[in-house]
Amino acid sequence: MPESLDTQPVSAEPLWRLGTAYFSRKVTLTAAELGVFTVLADGPLTAEQLRIRLELHPRGVPDFLDALVALDMLERDGDQYRNTPLSDHFLNEKRPSYVGAFLSAADARWDRLADALRTGEPQNRWGAGPQMFTEQYRTTAAWRNFTAGMDYLNGMIGPPVAEAFDWTSVDSVVDVGGARGNLVAALLRRHPHLKAGVFDLPGVEPVFIEHMTQLGIADRVTFHAGDFFTVPMPAADVLILSHVLHDWALQERQALVSRAFDALAPGGRLMVIDPMIDDDRRGTAGALLTSLNMLMVTPHGAEYTAAEARDWLTEAGFTGITAVPIGVHNTLLSGVRPA
Ligand SMILES: C[S@@+](CC[C@H](N)C(=O)[O-])C[C@H]1O[C@@H](n2cnc3c(N)ncnc32)[C@H](O)[C@@H]1O
Repeated sequence: MPESLDTQPVSAEPLWRLGTAYFSRKVTLTAAELGVFTVLADGPLTAEQLRIRLELHPRGVPDFLDALVALDMLERDGDQYRNTPLSDHFLNEKRPSYVGAFLSAADARWDRLADALRTGEPQNRWGAGPQMFTEQYRTTAAWRNFTAGMDYLNGMIGPPVAEAFDWTSVDSVVDVGGARGNLVAALLRRHPHLKAGVFDLPGVEPVFIEHMTQLGIADRVTFHAGDFFTVPMPAADVLILSHVLHDWALQERQALVSRAFDALAPGGRLMVIDPMIDDDRRGTAGALLTSLNMLMVTPHGAEYTAAEARDWLTEAGFTGITAVPIGVHNTLLSGVRPA
């Protein structure tokens, strides 16, 4: 159709913002891959010193480093570049909280979104069912990398979960599928009276001990090793399923909720946390995008609405179910096993 001069063409700006969001991610992850933040962790450097250390061509370096300043990943004082607290914590390879490899793996996977949409298959080669995790993370190093990524995600929800509920009446909490204990560490930081535990696969235990030791709370948190589909969940006043249900198919989610019900004493509470999709499926893009990420990494996982989760808890026997937003795009849904 011929375009008319009278018609206002649609603005390209929303698309431009999406395009440059992609550029921003690539600049940041490439800086992590090249070791910019790891080198600068030893102290500030000029652009030329950094260029020589990283063996880069002179042409792109000034724009690259100043783009990182504009993205708040570096600070510049005079001609000296240094890490920001954010990049130093998460993108400096010398720190246990490093997530550069975790984010780069996701970045590479998302290049295959079209394949995932055509086939419905995750873009990794691990099978369905409980072995999905054990196949993938055969070594302590692989668990370390994965659980650092989990810390980066659950680190954003720990403080709000510690405030979202009156923990003073709770004695014990177990985070089921709690990885290396980062979420219960946030709860303990705010509520030191709690007895806390993590229930996860045996392969996680070494990185759990390592992380709890680094945080100075190894003697205050218990690790329960087992497969949550076959081993009964530990008894506690509160059980948490954070970023767990979205990994699994509907039947497996229902089984986990029901197994949590069985483990809780009357009056005990289950907390389910995931980036839940709004009922109308058009609110914020966050949970819809993480749901597509579940398509990329799991055979049957997906995000879900709070209404769906409420049904699973009701079917299992929970009452008093409430849902509150947690952080930017997570929801905490909780229910009580009746007395
Ligand atoms: C997506 S991670 C979530 C970690 C953490 N809860 C969080 O919010 O960051 C899922 C966790 O479930 C654990 N998991 C997976 N399958 C399991 C099984 N069959 N039994 C026990 N834990 C399992 C994984 O090891 C991992 O720590």
